[in-house]
Amino acid sequence: MKLLCAEDYDRMSRMAADLIEQEIRENAGLILGLATGSSPFGIYQCFQKDYREHKISFQEVQGFQLDEYAGLDRENEQSFGCYLQKNLVETTDFRRENLHLIDGCAEDSETECKRYEKELQSTGGVDLQILGLGNDGHVGFNEPGEYFSGTVHITRLTQETVDANARFFRSKEEVPKSAYTMGIGTILRARKIFLIVSGASKAGILREAVCGNITPKVPASILQFHTDCTVIGDKAAFQYLDR
Ligand code: GLP
Repeated sequence: MKLLCAEDYDRMSRMAADLIEQEIRENAGLILGLATGSSPFGIYQCFQKDYREHKISFQEVQGFQLDEYAGLDRENEQSFGCYLQKNLVETTDFRRENLHLIDGCAEDSETECKRYEKELQSTGGVDLQILGLGNDGHVGFNEPGEYFSGTVHITRLTQETVDANARFFRSKEEVPKSAYTMGIGTILRARKIFLIVSGASKAGILREAVCGNITPKVPASILQFHTDCTVIGDKAAFQYLDR
C-alpha cells in the first residue's frame, strides 16, 4: 500500500482529485468506481471547480457506483445515486448515460445484483476505484464478518453503520437497514484503488486496516493484498501510522 498524507481535508481532496484527473487525461474513457459520503465529497467539489475552469472534461468517463441503500430510489435525496447525479452529472459534463447505478428499489434483489455485476464486468472492469473507510473498517457496505464477500450483493447493515449514517437522515429510524454493495471480490478486481480517509475518528481503524492482520473483521485490511492501492488521507487520519 502506498500512503499519501495531506495537511487537512481540503488538501487531501485536492491531491486525490489531481491524481484522478491525471488518470482521465491519460485515458479519457476511464472507468471509475464511485464512493459517496463525506470522505470523497471534497474530491467531487474539486472536479466541479476544475470543470468550470475548463481544466478537465468527464465526457467519456464511465462511473459505477460502489453501493446503494436498499429501498431508496435514485430520486430520493439520501440515495447514493442522487448524490452522484448531483455531484457529477448536474455539475460537470459527466454524461448521465455513463453513470451506472444500482436500482435500490429493484423488485428482485438477486437479479439486480447479477445485472449490475455483469454490466460492470462487461465494460472491462473498474480502472480506478475510489473508496471511503467505514468507522468499523467497512468498504462499500462490506461489513465486518467471518469471510470476505465476492461479487455485488445485498447485505444487512450493522447497528454501528446505521448509527454512523444517521447524520444524513432526519432520524435514525429512516436509515435503511440493508444495502447493495460491490463485493470485496469486485473491488479487488479494480486495477487501481484510492482509499480516502479523513479525520481523527478514522485514525484507529485506518491503522488496523493498513498495519493490522488481514481479516474479514476489518474488511479494508484486504486492500493490503492489492498491488496498486494508495491511501490518501489527512494528518488527523494518519496520526497512528508511523511510516
Ligand atoms: C458508508 C458507505 C461507504 C462510505 C463509508 C464512509 O457507510 N457505505 O461507501 O465510504 O461509509 O463514509 P464517510 O466517508 O461519510 O465517512
